[in-house]
Amino acid sequence: MHECDGARVHYAIANNKGGAGKTVITACLAEALAARGRSVMVVDLDPQANLTRRLGYAEADLAALITVSEVIRANEQGCASQAITGCRWKLPFAENIDLIPSRFDLENRVPEAGQLGSHHRLATALDGVTAGYDVVLLDCPPSLGHLTQLAMSAADHVLVPVVPEYDHVAGATRIRDFIASSASHLGRPNLSVAGVIINDQDRRRGLHTWHLDSLAELFGPLVWTPSVPSRSVLAEAADAAEPLRAQAGSPVRDLISIFDELADRLEVSNAAA
Ligand SMILES: Nc1ncnc2c1ncn2[C@@H]1O[C@H](COP(=O)(O)OP(=O)(O)O)[C@@H](O)[C@H]1O
Ligand SMILES: [Mg+2]
Repeated sequence: MHECDGARVHYAIANNKGGAGKTVITACLAEALAARGRSVMVVDLDPQANLTRRLGYAEADLAALITVSEVIRANEQGCASQAITGCRWKLPFAENIDLIPSRFDLENRVPEAGQLGSHHRLATALDGVTAGYDVVLLDCPPSLGHLTQLAMSAADHVLVPVVPEYDHVAGATRIRDFIASSASHLGRPNLSVAGVIINDQDRRRGLHTWHLDSLAELFGPLVWTPSVPSRSVLAEAADAAEPLRAQAGSPVRDLISIFDELADRLEVSNAAA
């Protein structure tokens, strides 16, 4: 159990390689969990605000929102409650997902990295706020810098999406090594990689098969199954700011069951925590 409150487990979804599928996997895991009745809090820690848009907030909506940037700056215990907003997907399970949104001016928090103890500000803001949720997912930016460290300081575990290609695998090992060297400094000595999720896998590319083997060697049982295949419907759902369940056709049904299995795995990890 998280030491700050009663939510089962807080997961940071991180890989400093961009385009690994952090945001897609955060959104699809949140969908899979919400569709089975779990209550999910997602926190967008990327100034690009891709997750915020995916959950139904247009650029024009963002000015009126209290975002994660303001709650990090406030640095007051539990203040993140003021930023909670609902998922705007038009399917009933959307009510099981709450969002702490982002906006581009989250960049303004980055220079605060030099201030003493500043990496703990998100954990302080979330303290007590996430107690009622079954799972908390923190979507990180493509960086190992301050914003990702804020997420890790509020996390119990890290999930690492990785495309089976050299630079992504390098990103995954970098994350693992960073956790080993910095978890204590971040105030989370027990922080660990809970899972490596292979994304955007294309069976036609021999390169991918080769890297799957090296990921199995590097991470062993931490590699979650099944892998997420390369499917245009996944990008289309992201583009349309919709859940998978708003799309039709057999490719999307396959993806829904893949993310259901990954959500099963997450719940096993949750129960063990
Ligand atoms: N399995 C996949 N199949 C097809 N497109 C994907 C897949 N995973 C991600 N994408 C697309 O790749 C891009 C990067 O994914 P995203 O989740 O934004 O990565 P990150 O958050 O790690 O930067 C997006 O355009 C997304 O729609
Ligand atoms: Mg992203």
